[in-house]
Amino acid sequence: MEPLLTVNHLSVRLKKKGTSLVNDVSFQANSGQILGIIGESGSGKSMTCRALMGLLDPSRFLISGEALFKGQDLFKLPSKKLRPLRGNHIAMIMQNPMTAFDPVTRIGSQMVETLRAHQQSSKEQAIASITQELAKLGLDDVPRILNSYPHELSGGMLQRIMIALALLLSPELIIADEATTALDVHTQAVILEEFTAIRNAGISMIVVTHNFGVLAKLADDVVVLHDGSVVEHGSVYQIFDKPTQPYTQELLQASNLKRG
Ligand SMILES: Nc1ncnc2c1ncn2[C@@H]1O[C@H](COP(=O)(O)OP(=O)(O)OP(=O)(O)O)[C@@H](O)[C@H]1O
Ligand SMILES: [Mg+2]
Repeated sequence: MEPLLTVNHLSVRLKKKGTSLVNDVSFQANSGQILGIIGESGSGKSMTCRALMGLLDPSRFLISGEALFKGQDLFKLPSKKLRPLRGNHIAMIMQNPMTAFDPVTRIGSQMVETLRAHQQSSKEQAIASITQELAKLGLDDVPRILNSYPHELSGGMLQRIMIALALLLSPELIIADEATTALDVHTQAVILEEFTAIRNAGISMIVVTHNFGVLAKLADDVVVLHDGSVVEHGSVYQIFDKPTQPYTQELLQASNLKRG
């Protein structure tokens, strides 16, 4: 089967200093599967995702390599074509939920607006589906949430709102950057179940985390990043049971998850 997304030799450098942040990274994300990207803080996970989503300011960052989404190189698409692709086909759940929202617009208006920009629905229909999705993710008192400004909600609430929006857009690929980090263990379990359900419904995901436990529950394949480079890329079984690289073994030992 043709991979949904093939990343070849992706590098990201700071234009000014020439510092390399992501270095010759290649991997594939298969249709209907969850690809995990794991690595310590600063290993280049977010930079990789942001480059793929076209979120890096071209005046500051130099991107090279290719990112083939269904055969189309995302880096070669003019912004006019990239914009509708984002959200409709690829959605990203950002690591920092606070910066993802407009601080001066109520959450409800932002959600309705985003949803209606991507699919035809009345305001009432949009609110109904938003309410249903938020409740599924364990958020009660939805009317109050929709009426709030971002700063009036907790980080965990904003993270779930972002997850709900990504799910509601029903894209083909969801990139989730540390989507469950700000959540308590119970809520995290609810979200991971929801991720599994959407995967089973045929949506592909890239799940970025520094937590091997999350990947053990979710991932089909795993990419291990270190210092901006891929250390190891294999099936979740291979990575957990037969890691070939000392770095992967160290990470696993540190997480106390290595079996046997
Ligand atoms: N806006 C930025 N400008 C310049 N350098 C940056 C910027 N954001 C991140 N970096 C650098 O890029 C490298 C990779 O950072 P990145 O944010 O991708 O790490 P990460 O793996 O997502 O870490 P974390 O687990 O903490 O989220 C780091 O060296 C970081 O200092
Ligand atoms: Mg990050």
